[in-house]
Amino acid sequence: MAAPILISGAMDCEIDYFLEELAGSTHRQIHGFDFWQGSLQGLPVVVSQTRVGMVAAAIATAVGLSAYMPSAVINQGTAGGHRRDLKVGDIVIGRACVPINGLEMPARSEGQGCAPLEWTPNHRTISHLSDRALCDLFASTPYTGGQKRLGVLGCGDLFSREMDRIDWLQATFGEDCEDMETYAVQQACQHFGVPFAGVRIISNNERTLDPYDRSTARTLQQFVCRALADWPAH
Ligand code: 5AD
Repeated sequence: MAAPILISGAMDCEIDYFLEELAGSTHRQIHGFDFWQGSLQGLPVVVSQTRVGMVAAAIATAVGLSAYMPSAVINQGTAGGHRRDLKVGDIVIGRACVPINGLEMPARSEGQGCAPLEWTPNHRTISHLSDRALCDLFASTPYTGGQKRLGVLGCGDLFSREMDRIDWLQATFGEDCEDMETYAVQQACQHFGVPFAGVRIISNNERTLDPYDRSTARTLQQFVCRALADWPAH
């Protein structure tokens, strides 16, 4: 049997459409993480719920990679736009992802306070490229819900809402948007030598004061399904 494609999302609203569409679905829980195996667009697929955050996403992906030996991994879900020209509903295909919370800070003694904008990235905060062919596939998939662009996905265990912080993150890491899982999933894939791509939809944007819109999560799943229709194995 052909190796499946592992498609992951953190929250219920980021995998619900896949689960509705998954034909012949069987559910398994492995080490506390949920997986559904079946087919989408006639392709063997495993849907994985990573839950929120870097550690959970890394463990869930390592478990999924070991259990299903997929041919490729797609991590997808919502993200906060860090650029004014990224509107809710726009899609960012992560040509690269970068961890944004590995930081070092100048020493300050007791009573000298805390100055997060003076912190600097540590040596692990380098960006990692996605699989080129997978990015090309998403780049050529039609999308009418907004714009679609290649970009850099900033990832960390944080939900940034301070404008000066967002300016700093953009200037320091060259990221376009923020989420909490992509980098962790990418790292697991790199260790297993499995092609990886991260795709995100803008669900909120602090610059434009757009609050979190969870319906975007479903829109992205529909886009990913459309991309599967053009998967090379077809
Ligand atoms: N910052 C961080 N994570 C975000 N997410 C959506 N918007 C943001 C944001 N502005 C995603 C994360 C996490 C959940 C809160 O939604 O990946 O899973």
